[in-house]
Amino acid sequence: MNDYKLVSRSVSDTMELAQNIESEKFPNMVICLVGELGCGKTIFVKGFASALGIEENITSPTFNIVKEYLNGEMPLYHMDVYRLEESKESIGLSDYFNKGGVTIIEWSDMIQNELPAERLEIHFKVIDEETRVIKCIPYGKEYEDLCNYVL
Ligand SMILES: Nc1ncnc2c1ncn2[C@@H]1O[C@H](COP(=O)(O)OP(=O)(O)O)[C@@H](O)[C@H]1O
Ligand SMILES: [Mg+2]
Repeated sequence: MNDYKLVSRSVSDTMELAQNIESEKFPNMVICLVGELGCGKTIFVKGFASALGIEENITSPTFNIVKEYLNGEMPLYHMDVYRLEESKESIGLSDYFNKGGVTIIEWSDMIQNELPAERLEIHFKVIDEETRVIKCIPYGKEYEDLCNYVL
C-alpha cells in the first residue's frame, strides 16, 4: 500500500496540510490522527476547521469525547478518544461516520477495532520542537485518490 511521507516544519505547515485535505473533502470522510501528546493532532483539526469556515475556537473534546461543529460548509465531528472508557462509550461513536459530515478522531489507535475500513490515517512523529514527520496512509479508493491529488 502507498503511503505519503511529509515533513512539517511549523504549525502553519501542519495547518496547510489540513487545508489541502479539506479542499477534497466528501461526505462521511473519516480522518484518524495518531501520535503522542503535543505532536500536532489538534493543530491539524484547527486547520481543517478553519478551511471549513468554522469560526469557533477548536479545543480537544477531552471530557465529552465528541464535539460537533455545524456551522461550516460541512458538519465536523471532532473526537478525542484518549479518555474513552472502552466498552461503555465507544459504542455509538460509529454513528457519526455516516451522518454526512467529516469525522476527525484524535488518538484513533485507541479504538482501532471501531474504525471504518475506509479512512485516512495520519501519523505524526515529533522530531524536534518545530519539526514533525507526517505519514498519510489511505485505506480505500476515495482516500487513495485524495492523497494522489493533494499530497
Ligand atoms: N510542525 C508543527 N506542527 C504542529 N504543531 C507544532 C509544530 N511545531 C510545533 N508545534 C506545537 O506543538 C503543539 C501541538 O499541540 P496539539 O496540536 O495540541 O497536539 P496534540 O493534539 O497532538 O496533543 C502546539 O503547541 C504547537 O504549537
Ligand atoms: Mg489534541
